[in-house]
Amino acid sequence: MRVTSGGSFYITTPIYYPSDVPHIGHGYTTVAVDALARWHRQAGDDTWMLTGTDEHGQKMMRAAAANGVSPQEWVDKLVSEEWFPLLETLDVANDDFIRTTQERHEESVKAFIQAIYDRGYIYAGEYEALYCVGCEEFKPDSEIVEGTGAFEGLKVCAIHSKPLELLHEKNYFFKLSEFQDRLLELFREQPDFVQPESARNEVIAFVQQGLKDLSISRSAFDWGIPVPWDSSHVIYVWVDALLNYATAIGYGADEGDFARRWPGYHVVGKDILRFHAVIWPAMLMAAGLDVPKGVFAHGWLLVGGEKMSKSKATGIAPQTLVDTFGSDAYRFYFLSAIAFGQDGSFSWEDMVARYHAELANGFGNLASRSVAMTAKYFGGSVPEPGEYTDGDRAVQTLVADATRNADAAIERFRIDQAIDEIWTIVDALNGYITENEPWALAKDDAMRERLATVLYTCLEGLRALAVLLSPVMPASTQKLWQALGAEGALAEQPIREAGRWGQLPAGATVAKIAPLFPRIEED
Ligand code: MSP
Repeated sequence: MRVTSGGSFYITTPIYYPSDVPHIGHGYTTVAVDALARWHRQAGDDTWMLTGTDEHGQKMMRAAAANGVSPQEWVDKLVSEEWFPLLETLDVANDDFIRTTQERHEESVKAFIQAIYDRGYIYAGEYEALYCVGCEEFKPDSEIVEGTGAFEGLKVCAIHSKPLELLHEKNYFFKLSEFQDRLLELFREQPDFVQPESARNEVIAFVQQGLKDLSISRSAFDWGIPVPWDSSHVIYVWVDALLNYATAIGYGADEGDFARRWPGYHVVGKDILRFHAVIWPAMLMAAGLDVPKGVFAHGWLLVGGEKMSKSKATGIAPQTLVDTFGSDAYRFYFLSAIAFGQDGSFSWEDMVARYHAELANGFGNLASRSVAMTAKYFGGSVPEPGEYTDGDRAVQTLVADATRNADAAIERFRIDQAIDEIWTIVDALNGYITENEPWALAKDDAMRERLATVLYTCLEGLRALAVLLSPVMPASTQKLWQALGAEGALAEQPIREAGRWGQLPAGATVAKIAPLFPRIEED
């Protein structure tokens, strides 16, 4: 998954089921995609970030019925009261938000299904299998287990631990089995099509076992998009949902836009990897369209050792954390504490500890001290640096290296590693201050020029940090940027140039700054 500088960068989150309220697992995917999109946007790539909601299917129908309203009323309420506000809570700068009940989506889905029908990839057949409404999927044998407790004697879904339903229907089928060889060839020719490596291996093993044709319509209910040539069927919710990635950027409506954005990258939780890395590329191949540039599967947030989920009552609302820590700390915590691609356990104690160690004491304190010393010793004006020593030059080299390495990590979708790289600057500058003791230099008039160089090094390092951290922590870096008196809009600073030394002009006015990450008093 390599992105060329200045090229098109289209990235998506999964579209979420608004059958329920968002929890921090949904928030995790969304902020990860937002940070990647912000980085590329700031690098000058032609960036587009899409997110949205997946509003059809049986799960939604049942949630609406349980609440005594129509499915449309239910999704309208949840989307406007919960899912739109989530983006503001988490400070997400998405370019578009697609809802699968929008006309722009429904019409283009019909056009796509008709196109692959006309190309001979769809046929009518009979089907009997076990269906999980939680997954909205006919389950493969490997994901069917014996129930326990209240579900003793029943077959249950391995993910949801709820009984499966035996469905017998006349359906339309997509000839997925015809794509086995082409998919394996794709994984071979584009080894980074599925990342990380563990996800790639899982997908290859799954496809090697052989693919069955996929039932792509349902006739037992009507909450979905009608099959264009047979209105007694609605299109299977996953096929409808996957198509959002194409319909949102103009498939079937604006071919110019579509050509500009497609293909793109998908970031998904590992629970829905197969849909994205097997079914979706096969659908695109059937339509004669390009497959995605890549699919990155991240891990699960675990609470008490289990995948956090609303249905198991372990869901935590993002707002709860943001109320205490702020949106930047939320974004920083999840993106830095968990290796992107692996599972990670969430705990309140860990979040508090990292907040204080890394944000309040590490980054925040570095900013406060540097700004305060500039006010105290230079009347709030960025001093002109004198001659640089080897120690100063080592800081400059480290900033340049960290910038390059962080960009390389982002190219691999490893946001956590990018943050680690950037954090070498925070640690180096804190060490530099301890070593150079500006407060001692300030006591000696003969050391005035040295003091200027030391403080300039801190402020210029902070300038680079503001630029590099703005995709992860847009709010606090904006405050820092203003306090430094730096020129231009922060979001417009070319991120790949952040490591070029000397961009903060001497003479700029440094303004007082409130603590970026105030300490949290715990009850
Ligand atoms: N609607 C489908 C996706 C269709 S995409 C064409 C769906 N929706 S979902 O709301 O159930 O979950 C979507 C995503 O939320 C998961 O893939 C994952 O990215 C994220 N997460 C949900 N629970 C999560 C955790 N406990 N941990 C991390 N991410 C989680 O599936």
